[in-house]
Amino acid sequence: MTTRDHCLALDAADALAPLREQFALPAGTIYLDGNSLGVLPKVTPARLQQVVADEWGRDLITSWNKAGWITLPQRVGDKIARLVGAGPGELVVTDSTSANLFKVLSAALAIQHAEAPRRTRIVSERGNFPTDLYIAESLARQHGAELVLVDDAHALAACLDERCAVLMLTQVDYRSGRLHDMAALTRAAHDAGALTVWDLAHSAGALPVDLQGADADFAVGCGYKYLNGGPGAPAFVWVHPRHVERFWQPLAGWIGHAAPFDFTPGYRPAPGIARYLVGTPPILSLAALECGVDTVLAAEPFGGMAALRAKSLALTRLFIELVEARCAGHGLELVTPRDEALRGSQVSWRRAEGGYAIVQALIARGVVGDFRVPDVMRFGFTPLYTRFVDVWDAVEQLRQVLESGQWRRPEFNQRSTVT
Ligand SMILES: Cc1ncc(COP(=O)(O)O)c(C=O)c1O
Repeated sequence: MTTRDHCLALDAADALAPLREQFALPAGTIYLDGNSLGVLPKVTPARLQQVVADEWGRDLITSWNKAGWITLPQRVGDKIARLVGAGPGELVVTDSTSANLFKVLSAALAIQHAEAPRRTRIVSERGNFPTDLYIAESLARQHGAELVLVDDAHALAACLDERCAVLMLTQVDYRSGRLHDMAALTRAAHDAGALTVWDLAHSAGALPVDLQGADADFAVGCGYKYLNGGPGAPAFVWVHPRHVERFWQPLAGWIGHAAPFDFTPGYRPAPGIARYLVGTPPILSLAALECGVDTVLAAEPFGGMAALRAKSLALTRLFIELVEARCAGHGLELVTPRDEALRGSQVSWRRAEGGYAIVQALIARGVVGDFRVPDVMRFGFTPLYTRFVDVWDAVEQLRQVLESGQWRRPEFNQRSTVT
């Protein structure tokens, strides 16, 4: 049976342990919510201060050229590309994941409409993140398409037929943490004549992603989760080079124009992925995101995403083992797949009663996870800064919360807006 000393020994032997030093982790907090909002990198405040005071305050508008503001979406995009198996110049940072999804799904539908007009279905999962489903629903209305949702991932294959235009999936499910095989599903979609749109919100920076290797068509993802870009950090968008210039994306804005400073009245899309930009880039947010992405790239000398993945799986394996051993008999049901090939970087538990309150009681004890309706307690394990001993200590707090019944206190049962 694993002991706390054993966990300390694992940390002592962990080659990735020094990466934790990059983060301003609050004392006394075990943070298991990097899948929702990544931790502040230590360098971010000074970098933002520099952008504000020097680049904005002193150099003012000259910074668009002098400080490279105008190409920041591409510069940060090229860094994220290294984490998700995309080439340089193929990915930009812009807007939100939702807005980018709108752009790529529109493009995918437009391609299919031109080439295979009888393909009118967008196939996805009912449990997909709601914004993905809302965007798809909205586009389905505009394009006269149909949104087909399956309840079980095993049913996806049967939906890949001559009616399917686009298979739109989130690679790691936000609730259960289940990981899809991107390469296999993309192959199946292509064999059926469909295109793929992948949401990498819970995979970019969490596990190795190989967009080119999987031959995916379109992808979007978040900057504020495992990329540590800060609250509301801009998102990213990638389009396979074979598709990128085939269509305008529908939000034709001046920053996505081939020559924005010609100020011509007619739209001419920029070559390549730059046409997926829309309006003026949010420089402060981009600067913060760059700091966050750099914390992940800092793992490259230690084995990069493959090494982070190995540690992430070791952490989630340990968490499952310890919860099952030390919190047995408290009605916790594992939602996340036991099969590690099907697991992202989080572990979720279901409990018939009190899930929200248990998470609140844990937060009061300095162990931060979150809750997703109706009954899911989520714990994210960011291998950059989570230690094995944190897993032990978090499980010990969970055991105490469950055994004491402390979660039943009224203050832990009052729902806040953000859960
Ligand atoms: C899978 C997934 N997609 C999209 C989003 C939301 O993206 P945004 O707020 O950038 O539009 C989230 C947020 O948690 C998510 O989990």
